Amino acid sequence: MKIFIDSGNLKEIESLVPLGIIDGITTNPSLLAKEPGDYREILKKICQIVKGPTSAEVVATDAEGMIRQGRELAGIDEHIVVKVPFTREGVKACKALSSEGMRVNVTLIFSPTQALLAAKVGATYVSPFVGRLDDIATSGMGLIAEIVEIFGNYKFSTEVLVASTRGPMHIVEAARMGADICTCPATVIESLFKHPLTDIGLEKFLKDWEKAQTAKV
Ligand code: E4P
Repeated sequence: MKIFIDSGNLKEIESLVPLGIIDGITTNPSLLAKEPGDYREILKKICQIVKGPTSAEVVATDAEGMIRQGRELAGIDEHIVVKVPFTREGVKACKALSSEGMRVNVTLIFSPTQALLAAKVGATYVSPFVGRLDDIATSGMGLIAEIVEIFGNYKFSTEVLVASTRGPMHIVEAARMGADICTCPATVIESLFKHPLTDIGLEKFLKDWEKAQTAKV
């Protein structure tokens, strides 16, 4: 399963990419709005650091505007994936942009029917938001299971990009279900490393080693 960082913050991205576990980045207008400077320059820098799929979202709400913005975003760097919201206009824009050879991530997916329609218009990725569903007492991971099952029944090449992840169990469950990608805030990625027994075990190994070295002197 691929892991993307859900962030527009260069420091977070620069600190995680050298670990070798990061396959791509997702941004959204809220994330980029938090960062100082020109969003195009930020996106370009992100692409240069990650050298992998980097989702950049349109803010137009009509298909024509989305297509125009999508072409502009795709012109920033070869790694840009155009992100469009799942609306009737977004579906039209996805069809047009994917027919022109651009990779499209259809975002704000909250139902299996939305995922199915996005796959039918050539989406490279669908982004179901699991955390926001959990927030309203609906199973986010239940939605992932449905989409993975549906895509598995047909020949869609669309990848399931689990978004709005809030903790390590979202990542564990997504991997068990065979989802293609999880996009995670930096804090969630950090949490994937942690186990107290690893820390305790390493401390003991080092202490025992040190004791033995001192005894040999
Ligand atoms: C996905 O591409 C979105 O940027 C993101 O995962 C939204 O997550 P949130 O619900 O934590 O804002």
